Amino acid sequence: MTGEQVAEAESRVPSGERSVPVQFAANLTGIAALSKEQIELILDTAEHFREVSQRPIKKVPALRGKTVVNLFFEPSTRTRTSFEIAGKRLSADVQSVSASTSSVVKGETLLDTARNIEAMAPDILVMRHKSAGAADFLARHCSAAVVNAGDGAHEHPTQALLDALTIRQAKGDFAGLRVAIVGDIAHSRVARSNILCLRKLGADVVIAGPPTLLPLRAEALGVEVQRDVNAAIAGADVVMMLRVQVERGGNLNLPSTQEYFKLFGLTEERLKLANDAAVVMHPGPMNRGVEIASSVADGPRSLILEQVSNGLAVRMAVLYLLAGGGARNDESAA
Ligand code: CP
Repeated sequence: MTGEQVAEAESRVPSGERSVPVQFAANLTGIAALSKEQIELILDTAEHFREVSQRPIKKVPALRGKTVVNLFFEPSTRTRTSFEIAGKRLSADVQSVSASTSSVVKGETLLDTARNIEAMAPDILVMRHKSAGAADFLARHCSAAVVNAGDGAHEHPTQALLDALTIRQAKGDFAGLRVAIVGDIAHSRVARSNILCLRKLGADVVIAGPPTLLPLRAEALGVEVQRDVNAAIAGADVVMMLRVQVERGGNLNLPSTQEYFKLFGLTEERLKLANDAAVVMHPGPMNRGVEIASSVADGPRSLILEQVSNGLAVRMAVLYLLAGGGARNDESAA
C-alpha cells in the first residue's frame, strides 16, 4: 500500500466523536474477568471494524508503530489467521511464531520464550497454548498486553466474543434467548467461554452431550444440563455444535462416529425441534457427519462463516482496545 493509498483510505472514513463508557482491561485472558459493559464495548468496537474489512482499501492507522507477536503452540486456522490479518488491517507490525519452528522444540520453556520475545519490545502478545492458565502465567511475567487465543480446556475468549457478536446480529437481544451448546462440553474452552459470556449478557444456556463429555457439577455453571440432545435443542433460538476434542482426552465411547452422529449429531430432522428462526453455529474445525450434517452446516440457518468474518472484527477490536484505542476523538480507527 502506497502512502497515497493510505491517505486516500484515511480520508474516506467516518470521523464522528466516539466516547468510551468503560475502562478496558490490561490483558484479555478470559471472559471471566470481563464485565458485561466491557464485553459490550468490544462488540460495539467490532461492529465498527467490520466496515473497515468491506472497504476497497482495508486498512486504518490505529496501531501504526505497534508490534503484535502471535505465539501459537497449538494448531490453528481461524484464530491465528484472523489475528494476523487483524493486526495488519490496523497497521501494526505483526510477527507469528509457531511451536514447530521455534526453539521450543529444542527444550526452551514458555517463560524463557516469552522473556526473549519480550526483549524485542512487542506491545501485544497473542498466545495459544495447550495448558490451562498459560495466558495468565504470561500476563504475570510480561509487561506487554496478553491475549489468550485458547489455553487448554480453560478459555477461548475471542471465540466467545465473536459468537456473541454473531448472535447479537442475528437476534438483536440476549434476554430470554435459549442457546443450546451440544457436544464435548467437558474438554471445550469454547463452551466454557461461551457459557460465561452468554450468561453475563443475559441469555439462557442449555448444554447437552454424552455423559462422559459433560463437566462434573455442570449446573454450577448456571446452565440447564440435558443428556437428551433433543430436549436441549427443543425450542432453542441458537444451536451451537462442538466437535469431540480427542486431543484433550475426549472419547466418543461409542462403536463408531456414525453411532455418535445418530445419537448426538445435528441433522435437518433434529433441527426441526428448534424454534422456526433458530440459527446454527460451530466454532470450527467441523467434523462433518460426526457432530453436524453437511446439509445443516451449509444450509440456510448456518452462521458458521459469519462467525469467521466476525472473528476478524472482534480481534481487530481487542487489539485496538488493548493498545489504548477508544479514547475520545481517536480518529486513527476510523
Ligand atoms: N475456532 C477456532 O479456534 O479455530 P482454530 O483452531 O482453527 O483457530
